[in-house]
Parts: sequence; structure tokens; C-alpha cells
Amino acid sequence: MDSLKITGGTPLEGEVRISGAKNATLPILAATLLANGPVSIANVPHLRDVTTIIELLGHMGAAVTIGERMRIEVNPTTLRHCRAPYELVRTMRASILVLGPLLSRFGQAEVSLPGGCAIGSRPVDLHVAGLKALGADIHVENGYIQARAERLRGARLVLDTVTVTGTENLMMAAALADGETIIENAAREPEVVDLAAFLNAMGAGVTGAGTDTIVIAGVEALHGTDYAVLPDRIEAGTYLVAGAITSGLVRVKGVRPEHLDAVLIKLRASGADIVIGEDWIELDMRGRRPRSVDVRTAPYPAFPTDMQAQFAALNVIADGVGTIVETVFENRFMHILELQRMGANIRLQGNTAVIRGVDHLTGAPVMATDLRASASLVLAGLVAEGDTTVRRIYHIDRGYECIEEKLELLGARIERVSG
Ligand code: UD1
Repeated sequence: MDSLKITGGTPLEGEVRISGAKNATLPILAATLLANGPVSIANVPHLRDVTTIIELLGHMGAAVTIGERMRIEVNPTTLRHCRAPYELVRTMRASILVLGPLLSRFGQAEVSLPGGCAIGSRPVDLHVAGLKALGADIHVENGYIQARAERLRGARLVLDTVTVTGTENLMMAAALADGETIIENAAREPEVVDLAAFLNAMGAGVTGAGTDTIVIAGVEALHGTDYAVLPDRIEAGTYLVAGAITSGLVRVKGVRPEHLDAVLIKLRASGADIVIGEDWIELDMRGRRPRSVDVRTAPYPAFPTDMQAQFAALNVIADGVGTIVETVFENRFMHILELQRMGANIRLQGNTAVIRGVDHLTGAPVMATDLRASASLVLAGLVAEGDTTVRRIYHIDRGYECIEEKLELLGARIERVSG
């Protein structure tokens, strides 16, 4: 199993190109199932989770071709069956995203229930309830969601909790439904907006994405198209924190700065100078120690839960006391114990971590437990004295493209160690 060995202490300096967004790529690849012809997707990041969804599409019989620079072409018309097996779903919860498109396009779906997840229970009850309201017949048998429908019928859906993949699943299902669907309390994340734009490029009638009310006018069929995925705001945010935590100067290129508003507010509060261009952001923290910041996660446009662990790492070496409140997921603090092993001073109380900054961390062998937790351990390693080995980095490969190459370009001392 690969590890990352990091020798801390170098302020990062330079620029880094941001990849396509994982969380937009996954629903968009699932949505290709809705088309009645080949679809071509560009700016796809080369990540473990993306490989998993490609494997899943291929497993069901879709013809998938990976072209130069990860341009993915999917022809869903060759599909042989509509079963997403446990072996694939268990490695990636987001496989549930094929449920809506399969049901709506092929009238049936058999999707394994995702197993327990390291960051809380993460149920899919809202996906299922929404599809039932659209007329599907759904029950759970032998650990599989068994779903059938003649043609889904448009309906007004009110989501109990703001759910990103839930909103996406229902939007995809409604795209081919008979009549109009209204999703109230919809997620407003940029990745939801990107999926809506992709659906519309295939001929769908989605309006209101980016607000909490999405209206989908169902159409008879969707056609193939060419589409490029939006840049990854979480990857961009993570490299900016890498600049801040090492008192460096980092410019992220190829981003949509407006998607990072909540993160940039906190980076400014931590003392960083931020300059924003049309598609780049530069952070300058040279010669300064970051100040602690208070963070409270919530659905977009508030501070993203996927940046929480990285800001915990930043607070660990910052000047002062910072409080992190996690409101989206229960049990998303596994990085805290590992950070403590590097010398962090953190008190956990329910969904709140109170972090008193220390003036140095010491390198240690640490274990990654989920995707963003691993990112926080890498960040801590960049600033710790001596060597940090982050184990189980398959988590990081699920969401960060070429992380060691990108950090190396910024001057970090980092290497991948096999075995
Ligand atoms: C997506 C993102 C993930 C991010 C999260 C929150 C993808 C592939 N993943 O995950 O990176 O951390 O949004 O921004 O886009 N919930 C229910 N019932 C449901 C569905 C969700 O109770 O049927 C709850 C969850 O337990 C959680 C909250 O809703 O407490 C938000 O979860 P959700 O937005 O669904 O997360 P994901 O879509 O799984």
C-alpha cells in the first residue's frame, strides 16, 4: 500500500493548475446514461473515484473510451443490464448516482445500498423517497435497492435536508419524466449547476439550478453532446491552504474564484493577502504565521465541509484559538486524533473542535481515514519538523490528481513510497 513521505519546513512557492472537479465529474458521467447517443466529456480528472464510475458504466455494458488528456466518451446505447454491484458501490458511495438515470432511461435499476461510511451514516433515504414520489416502485432486497417504473411522472419534491447527490439523482431522474418536477430545498453547489448545464446541453429543460428551487421540464429523449467539467474548488482551496500553512506564496490557475468565496473569507481572516484574477487566485502569507479562524460548515454558499479538515490543520499551527463546527456530517473528525499525534492541541466536544495553535508540529507516521482527512495530514506534514509518513493514501488518490507532483512543483519535499 502506497504512502506519502513528506519532509516539512519549506514555504511553498509557485503556481499550480487545478483539475476538473471530482464531484461534478461523477454525476455527469452517471448522467451520460440518459443520452440516446455518444457523449464526450473533457477536463475529467484522473482519479480513483472517476475510474470507479467508469468501471461501473463499463460493467453495465456502456461503451467507454478514454482519449487523450482524459477525454471520456460514453456510448450508453449498448447497455446490457442495470445492476450496480456491491463490489463497486462499496468502494464509492457516489455510485448511487446511477440510480436516477437508470430508472428514468431504462425503467429499472438494481443498485447496492452503500455500506457504512467512515464519515457518518450518510443515508440515501431522500434519494429513494424522491424517486418514489416520481412514481417509481422501490424496495430493498438482499442489500440492493430494486427500482422499477414505467415512465416517471413529474412531481413537487421537498427535500427534508439539503443533499447534493440527492438533488442530482432526482434532477437526472426528472429530466426524462412526463411533465414538470420541482425540487424544493435543493442543493445549490456549483457541481449541481454544472450537472444542470450538462443535462441542458443534452436537451433537458432544467432551470433554477444554483437556487434552492430547481424546475425540470421533462423531455422525451436526450441526445449526445460535448461538455467540459468545471474546475475543482476543493482542490483549489486545499492548495491555497498549503500556501497559508507553510507561510508561502501560491497561485492556483484555471479556477472559478467565485466558487471559493467562503473559503477566501477565512483565508483573509487568517492573515493572508489574496489577489483574485479572472481564473486564478494568489495567496501570499510570506513571513507571517497564520492566525486562527472560526469555521462552521454548512451547504453552499456557506463554508464547505470538504474544506473543514484542511482548516483544522491550518488552525493547528496558527496563532490563537480557533473553533471548527461541523454541521453537515456526524463523525467527520477522524483527522483530529492523527493531528494530535503530531503535537496538535485540540479539544473535541461533539461536533466542535477547539484548536489552540502550537508553534510547531513534529513529523510522525499517520494514517489517512478518508479523503479530506488525508489532505489535512499532508498539509500538517508540509509544516511539521522532520518526516511525516501518511499511510493509506488510496483515500487521497480518490480525490487529488497527481498530488505529489503538484506539491513538488511548489517546492515541497514529498515522495510516494510503494509497499
Ligand atoms: C456530497 C459530496 C461530498 C460532500 C457533501 C456535502 C459528491 C460525490 N460528494 O456528498 O464530497 O462532502 O456532498 O457537501 O458530490 N442525507 C440524508 N439522507 C439522504 C441524503 C443525505 O439524511 O438521503 C444527509 C447526510 O447524512 C448529510 C447531509 O444530508 O448529513 C448532506 O449529505 P449530502 O449532501 O447528501 O452528501 P453527499 O451528496 O453524499
